[in-house]
Amino acid sequence: EKPIGHDLASARALNRLIGEILDESQTYRIDHYLGKETVQNILVFRFANGLFEPLWNNKYVDSVQMTVSEAIGIEGRGNYYDQSGTLRDMVQNHIFQFMSLMAMEPPGTFEASAVHDEKVKVLRALRELPLSEIDKWAVRGQYGPGFDQGKPVPGYLDEDGVQKNSRTETYVALKLFVDNFRWAGVPFYIRAGKRMAKRVSEIGITFKSVPHALFTDNLGQRLGREPNVLALRIQPDEGITLKFLSKVPGPTIEPRPVTMDFRYGTSFGTEPPEAYERLLLDCMLGDSTLFARGDEVMASWRYCDRILRGWAEQDARNRAPLPSYEPGAWGPEPAATLLARDGRVWRRP
Ligand code: BG6
Repeated sequence: EKPIGHDLASARALNRLIGEILDESQTYRIDHYLGKETVQNILVFRFANGLFEPLWNNKYVDSVQMTVSEAIGIEGRGNYYDQSGTLRDMVQNHIFQFMSLMAMEPPGTFEASAVHDEKVKVLRALRELPLSEIDKWAVRGQYGPGFDQGKPVPGYLDEDGVQKNSRTETYVALKLFVDNFRWAGVPFYIRAGKRMAKRVSEIGITFKSVPHALFTDNLGQRLGREPNVLALRIQPDEGITLKFLSKVPGPTIEPRPVTMDFRYGTSFGTEPPEAYERLLLDCMLGDSTLFARGDEVMASWRYCDRILRGWAEQDARNRAPLPSYEPGAWGPEPAATLLARDGRVWRRP
């Protein structure tokens, strides 16, 4: 289980060491997000329904947002966290794992190696970020002191085990592109952090608006351009929501967003089991589909290493404190700017 290395070089070294003793088919790298029912359901949702897959591409999708926000702080893990940061702790593994399931091509079969082959292609297709302009693609932040449900909580720099002058991020927002036929031109925005507004993990897929707004109000203003959004809620309140416009009842045409909701609790009457239960069972059964293959981990590190290098170069030029955010906020200001530059805003899941 993670951390599988601290960067590409150390992950390679670890892989090599493991490879001297076990072969790949005997190696099960746990990423507990892959054990979550909602993450596995990305595949069933995409590949067992005729309705959505035809829309799953740059002809219909405007942009994708992936959020893993946590309300908790670092929970006494300062010694670990300060050496890690959110990019290593959440993005390199968990988020890139479910992103590759969301973005991959349909595999020929549901065999482990066929699934891994498609996932790794997504990670290899990530566009390399320009080092000199890293702040336009990868934003960092650190939580300051504040309150959590009325109780005072320390800022990151005052947490036990954290260096007073630490530049470790507790929040990260990324803009990235998957440069392939399916996703060309579709931005993927990713954000993750500690001490944020609430605990929620989700994938929000925003579809392109209709090509022509047919409806107008009395003043001739165009109505009904608000995009459809499909939200795959990984946790909590596990489920899937589709937002679309509907006519408000009455004599005039007024389109307003409404939602169709699927909830695990109501549809299946049970809560999803613990991720590890499933993963440990699969490992004993010898099924590696829900584990990270070595080449996926390497491809993901290659991408993250470049971000870390960009940040290190940025720090060498300017050691201004990292942008901070208040506990309970959705992140630091530059994260909003990252999307505003593209004329978009972050979702409020
Ligand atoms: C772990 C990280 O891998 O995942 C933690 O090290 C994080 O920092 C946790 O809190 C989140 O997992 P979950 O299942 O609670 O979303």
